[in-house]
Amino acid sequence: MNIEISNRIKRLRKELNEHNYRYYVLSEPSISDFEFDMKMRELEQLEQQHPEFFDPNSPTQRVGSDRNLEFEQVAHRYPMLSLTNAYSEGELRDFDQRVRRELETGFEYVCELKFDGASISLTYEKGSLVRAVTRGDGERGDDVTANVRTIASIPLMLRGNDYPPQFEIRGEIVMPFPVFEELNLQREEAGEPLFANPRNATSGTLKMQNSAMVASRKLDAYLYFLLGENLPGATHYENLKKAREWGFKVSEHIALCQSVDEVLAFIARWETARFQLPVATDGIVIKINSLKQQELLGFTAKSPKWALAYKFKAEEATTTLLSVDYQVGRTGAVTPVANLEPVQLAGTRVKRASLHNADIIRSLDLHLGDTVFVEKGGEIIPKITGTDVSKRHPMAQPVQFITTCPECGTPLVRTEGEAAHYCPNDTGCPPQIKGKIEHFISRKAMNIEGLGSETVELLFSKGLVNNVADLYDLKAEQLVPLERMGEKSAARILESLETSQTVPFSRVLFALGIRYVGETVAKTLASATGSIDRLKSLSKEELTTINEVGDRIAESILDYFSNPRHLELIERLRSKGLQFESDSQDNSLRSNVLEGISIVISGTFNRYSRDELKQLIELHGGKNVGSISKKTNYILAGENMGPSKLEKARQLNIPLLSEEDFLAMIGNN
Ligand code: IVH
Repeated sequence: MNIEISNRIKRLRKELNEHNYRYYVLSEPSISDFEFDMKMRELEQLEQQHPEFFDPNSPTQRVGSDRNLEFEQVAHRYPMLSLTNAYSEGELRDFDQRVRRELETGFEYVCELKFDGASISLTYEKGSLVRAVTRGDGERGDDVTANVRTIASIPLMLRGNDYPPQFEIRGEIVMPFPVFEELNLQREEAGEPLFANPRNATSGTLKMQNSAMVASRKLDAYLYFLLGENLPGATHYENLKKAREWGFKVSEHIALCQSVDEVLAFIARWETARFQLPVATDGIVIKINSLKQQELLGFTAKSPKWALAYKFKAEEATTTLLSVDYQVGRTGAVTPVANLEPVQLAGTRVKRASLHNADIIRSLDLHLGDTVFVEKGGEIIPKITGTDVSKRHPMAQPVQFITTCPECGTPLVRTEGEAAHYCPNDTGCPPQIKGKIEHFISRKAMNIEGLGSETVELLFSKGLVNNVADLYDLKAEQLVPLERMGEKSAARILESLETSQTVPFSRVLFALGIRYVGETVAKTLASATGSIDRLKSLSKEELTTINEVGDRIAESILDYFSNPRHLELIERLRSKGLQFESDSQDNSLRSNVLEGISIVISGTFNRYSRDELKQLIELHGGKNVGSISKKTNYILAGENMGPSKLEKARQLNIPLLSEEDFLAMIGNN
């Protein structure tokens, strides 16, 4: 019986690994998502029923856990070196000459893309991923194994059987551009600081404490370097090919080159072709193919002598800084924006560049009228990277960050330790009022149809709406006469407002637009507290015990509730019927009646699924365990409970609960 189950589990793991590989690495799935999910579900169920077959490398483990990890520092078995950079054809030719002198025989180059992400070292033992460590200082890095396990293109178990018993493989973890853009959009909505580029977003994600959050960020990885005693091939190229067979994602844009001219042709091609790639690259890595020759060439203290990184030139232009504007966002954050003399850069006409914050302006020592360098790297928005001081007019005025809000005149504030300046007048500053309303009605928040930013502008300028609660007082007579409105559109808006009463608490909480409370944090808060009243009553200490809630978020929540206008707003919204409590579908901790109690679920049930019952156990403070032991307090027994379990329960004298008994116990009828 157990052998059968064990075989089924093994088979499913193998199949799912195979499908993951086909999907994420080859991009050639052979089954539908639905079929894949069904297999995954079956495996999850079997593993849950048979915890004795637990394996951290099972494909079910990719979803990540909620556990808080403390990153352990791990010494690299082989130091993680950097590469010598070259910026010109001349430097590349010099490198070629040096190699030619050292090696008396002929040699080949391998050219690869230089991925711009976070480097990672993966250790595999007997074909299983055992450790993933960041570069750190090159000698020691952070053990981020739990987070890396969630990256779908990194194999947890290898395919085939000709891999060395123990080896390391290094590569780059990257965040594809579309994922990066979506992430920044969400952060913008939450009023959180944006990531400057995908590389920063990748390292930030790898260092998150919650691997389930990491899983949601959809990182990818390209592997490019094998290290170990018994590597299969005599060349780097062969080893990469093998690595691909074992299931690693190895870039397909790799070329064997017989001469430096072929290398230059590869570089020339990718200098522009790289803009078509879904991930950021910042150069070409050139490596000597033969491992023997690599060994002959050896290393300097910092980098191998058998490799070179040719860095792409960041597209740069020189122009004049005309003025600086200050934009006020919905959270009151003030963003400085440089107005430039228009200039052509990487195929687009650039006339504005973000300056991010006061510190950046200061570190650039910007003066009005300065000749500045603008660059477009992996980033989407161009940035000013420096000024040409030699061209500065002697009377040029330094750019001074404003002290009052450009929209409402309120003195700006800057919280210690934060880069941004804020306008604190959140209930009276027009862009903040409009921004908050726009956020409130947006699709992921209250999803009010028929209302867009133009209508909001109109409603605000006519004095009809000054805050989100005012929306619920709108009457058809007020809407219909507005420009480009009609009876139909007005009716649609009013109906949509009416149905927004059913929007669940977590989204209402997100819609309020509390700084740093984005979609995910709102969900976490809603399920941890269950209601706005409970959330409002928590102290900073209590708030920070909630997963992913740090000092910054906790302070922002306290700050929000300390404002009587916000409390009044909530009461008005509540009186309009909006949800300020999680309904029974939400995962709020509803009681502690099962605290310290272990329950095994067995059999099938009428009212709830096994998963739901598991949730209910946890919601009331209990623990759902997979197998019966002396420590089990109850067995939640459904129909068709397995005879061996029944026998074991009898032997250990563990009481059986029916579904009804259990529901009565937790006060749920
Ligand atoms: S080989 C000992 N290949 O660039 C040499 N590195 O500046 C090992 N990188 O730390 C590195 N793409 O993070 C290699 N195709 C590639 C690469 C690559 C990106 C990164 C890597 C390394 C850094 C060196």
